[in-house]
Amino acid sequence: MSENKTFKVGLSADLSDGNGGFSWGEIEIENLQPLSWDFLAPLESQFTPESLAGFHGVAFAAPSVTTESFSDSKDSPLVLSRFGVGYDNIDLDACTAAGTALTITPDGSKKPVATAALMLMLSTMHRLVAKDSLARSHGWNQRLHGLGQGVNGKTIATIGLGNIAAEFFRLISPFDVRKIAYDPWKTKDEAAAHGVELLDLDQVMSQADVIVVMALLTPESFHLISQPQIGAMKKTAILINISRGPIVDESALIEALVNKRIFGAGLDVFETEPPSKDNPLFALDNVIVTPHNIAWTDELARGMGRSAFKAIKDISQGQIPEYVVNKNVLTTPQFKEKLAQWQS
Ligand SMILES: NC(=O)c1ccc[n+]([C@@H]2O[C@H](COP(=O)([O-])OP(=O)(O)OC[C@H]3O[C@@H](n4cnc5c(N)ncnc54)[C@H](O)[C@@H]3O)[C@@H](O)[C@H]2O)c1
Repeated sequence: MSENKTFKVGLSADLSDGNGGFSWGEIEIENLQPLSWDFLAPLESQFTPESLAGFHGVAFAAPSVTTESFSDSKDSPLVLSRFGVGYDNIDLDACTAAGTALTITPDGSKKPVATAALMLMLSTMHRLVAKDSLARSHGWNQRLHGLGQGVNGKTIATIGLGNIAAEFFRLISPFDVRKIAYDPWKTKDEAAAHGVELLDLDQVMSQADVIVVMALLTPESFHLISQPQIGAMKKTAILINISRGPIVDESALIEALVNKRIFGAGLDVFETEPPSKDNPLFALDNVIVTPHNIAWTDELARGMGRSAFKAIKDISQGQIPEYVVNKNVLTTPQFKEKLAQWQS
């Protein structure tokens, strides 16, 4: 390891509460010790070479990363450590060209996000928000209107069978349900290990009582759930999206919800974020909406911080962190040269 160099760590300004604390509360910053750290200057929306200059490792949540985020690979950080698991606003090729590893926090996100998915599913099935409104408006005489749906006996599906979906299926194991999923990148055996039947998309859409979208957003998954797929759903079915808004064609979903072609939806994410104030979804009582924060809890904050800071600390000691997304960076000369400075 370099004798006279200090591994400099930056935290993006969106992680600051503006008062010397953290916007996410307790994020287990002690996992960085003995490294010291500074907040970066506030950004418009994406990292710039100036904002990253001088930092070897940067933990961040909100900023996006494009080719314009980097200049010379020598001046680019060795690691950008993202709080979270989505990376659709990160240009992975740009990171790789800059000799910068992008890490994410699946270990810290899996349980809290799966719990949130379960919570949104049950809340939507039970019509929690509509019933809350009824109590507040003293609508006791209407209590038998708008029954909820029980989970037992139902077929529960996910679109995408990754980390969070697998944990979600583990959480619903005590219920008496059939578990199905669509994921073109998984095998039937992998699915069976989670007690899940892997089916094609048409089968999932037509057989499920609840469909929970948990796939990665990619060009292939954009509008994967459009009018034909929504049209294939049972009239009693529910769509939950806790992944990324653009996977679902929102206009087709609104059309189905307005015309009661499906029972309801629970949406944490939207095609455009923030959604416009006059988005028709906000006027529908068969929909539960949350502003892309349903999974945000103290448990998630601690989990993401623990994982993100471990990645930075590992790399500061010349070790490859566990959750590198752009793995091809690891064999590039740009990355290897920078990493060698921290290896003994
Ligand atoms: N709402 C939130 O706050 C929140 C929090 C965490 C994660 N997320 C989202 O949840 C997603 C899933 O997270 P994860 O940790 O399980 O990721 P993961 O990478 O472990 O799993 C994603 C799965 O999607 C599958 N997939 C890819 N393309 C697909 C396609 N075209 N059709 C169907 N499946 C496809 C992959 O094969 C993979 O199994 C993330 O990409 C992220 O966008 C949202």
